[in-house]
Amino acid sequence: MRMQNNVVLVTGAGQGIGRAIASRLASEGAYIIINDLYENDNTRETLREVQGAGSNGCIIAGDVSDTVICRDIIAEGFSWAGGIDVLVNNAGIERNAEFLDVTEKDFDAVMNVNLKGAFFMTQAFAQHFRNTKRKGRIINISSVHEELPFPHFTSYCISKGGMKMMMRNLSIELAPLGITINNVAPGAIETPINKSLLNNPQQLAELTHNIPAGRLGKPLDVANAVLWLASDEADYVTGSTVYIDGGLLWNYQEQ
Ligand code: BGC
Repeated sequence: MRMQNNVVLVTGAGQGIGRAIASRLASEGAYIIINDLYENDNTRETLREVQGAGSNGCIIAGDVSDTVICRDIIAEGFSWAGGIDVLVNNAGIERNAEFLDVTEKDFDAVMNVNLKGAFFMTQAFAQHFRNTKRKGRIINISSVHEELPFPHFTSYCISKGGMKMMMRNLSIELAPLGITINNVAPGAIETPINKSLLNNPQQLAELTHNIPAGRLGKPLDVANAVLWLASDEADYVTGSTVYIDGGLLWNYQEQ
């Protein structure tokens, strides 16, 4: 059991990659705090999976794009579970629009969840490590698009690129507090965020053609990397991005 006696908070854990992280880490003994916008059938299903994996957890709902709520979620997690060892900033959204048509509302929504939310969740979490000897872990679920342009998703790419620099800066600032911080950067994964793509055979075939591994990733592919970064084995790893993309990022083909 690699995560015994660890409390892990996963944002956006009501579905997709977040849910897979919750149940994978639970299967190694972690107690999971499941965060998503609301307590609903999705979050309750994640909790059932966590329990099915042999551990336990709780649901603390709240919108991470609101800084006051970030502080409340972390405070509630610390008092309810007696501490949080690992924060997984997984909550993320994307909006598809040509640059000329992007609205301020959509831009703000993407930045506020993906970047500002991760920033203030991290700040509230790290504040608890002042004057303690506890070790902390932060794992951000970014994207290959922390590096790779994605036309029509410029605000999404800015948020993920920002997450990359946030992680690099904080690896320096948080090391003295005993906290490591790393990014896990998924490529194309079979999750609800890709629903329209998964339902479009032609788009799906074109994307699969661009992935050297010849398939989309599974949420578990991502969760396994998170498990390693959260475990003692990754004690000396900080400031890094691990790509989980079947080779998508560095692929270049001439027809
Ligand atoms: C995006 C997906 C996209 C994938 C590969 C992810 O970050 O959320 O929409 O298919 O990157 O481009």
